[in-house]
Amino acid sequence: MKRLCLAILLYTASTTASAAGLPAGVKQPHLEIDLSDKESLQRGARTFINYCLSCHSAAYMRYNRMAKDLGIDEESLRDNLLFVTDKVGDVMKAAMPAEDAKLWFGTAPPDLTVVARSRGPEWLYLYMTGFYREGSRWNNIVFPNVAMPHVLYEWQGEQRAVFETMEDGSKQFDHFEVVRPGSMKKEEYDAAIRELVNFLVYMGEPARLVRYRIGVYVLIFLGIFLIFTYLLKREYWKQLH
Ligand code: HEC
Repeated sequence: MKRLCLAILLYTASTTASAAGLPAGVKQPHLEIDLSDKESLQRGARTFINYCLSCHSAAYMRYNRMAKDLGIDEESLRDNLLFVTDKVGDVMKAAMPAEDAKLWFGTAPPDLTVVARSRGPEWLYLYMTGFYREGSRWNNIVFPNVAMPHVLYEWQGEQRAVFETMEDGSKQFDHFEVVRPGSMKKEEYDAAIRELVNFLVYMGEPARLVRYRIGVYVLIFLGIFLIFTYLLKREYWKQLH
């Protein structure tokens, strides 16, 4: 019992600690990750390939593996998603060589294959919705002084961060204010980012989809097994009465 209490305590401490990792005033979003929604994953993949692969790689993800997992046929893969390469068996390499990117941005854009595991989906969502304009450059609410420009600003538009000054003089994030609207409404942009994050979670662990499928078979098997067990039990007890 003591051990159980300790485990619960440690678990609560670790979950609150991850929420506490956010800057003051930034609320932890609630994200529904749904890896069974293939269409959402496909839209997320399209955003990722169109807007992120120019700088970032996903060197552990192959195009044909993704197409198979997400139910994309080879023709649409070739027509809509292969820009950087023409081989379906290639891994997702960035269009821009890492040395050039380093020269341009001062930091090489990191590989994003497993970023959903290192950063977590909530952080990624806050990151991709949290770019704001500060003078002539972009800043980010969860990644101060980030070297990455806001690549989806045409969708989201430009926003400015409003901070509240606390009693002790420190500043706390309060809300974003739209400076220039983008081509998408706020809800549309947030939904597109949820789908992008959904895709990043899939990419971090593609085997999860296989595991879900196996899980369903196991449950069906156990269900059928239960019927036989019940019938057998009835048979045994009949003789005892
Ligand atoms: C123009 C080049 C460029 C494009 C396009 C780009 N990024 Fe980045 N990204 C960067 C750079 C540079 C960094 C490193 C930032 C730093 O360390 O300050 C970065 C950092 C990141 C990080 C932080 C990784 C970490 O754990 O530190 C994430 C997440 C990310 N990018 C996601 C994306 C996504 C998603 C897209 C597509 C919507 C995208 N990026 C498109 C240049 C780019």
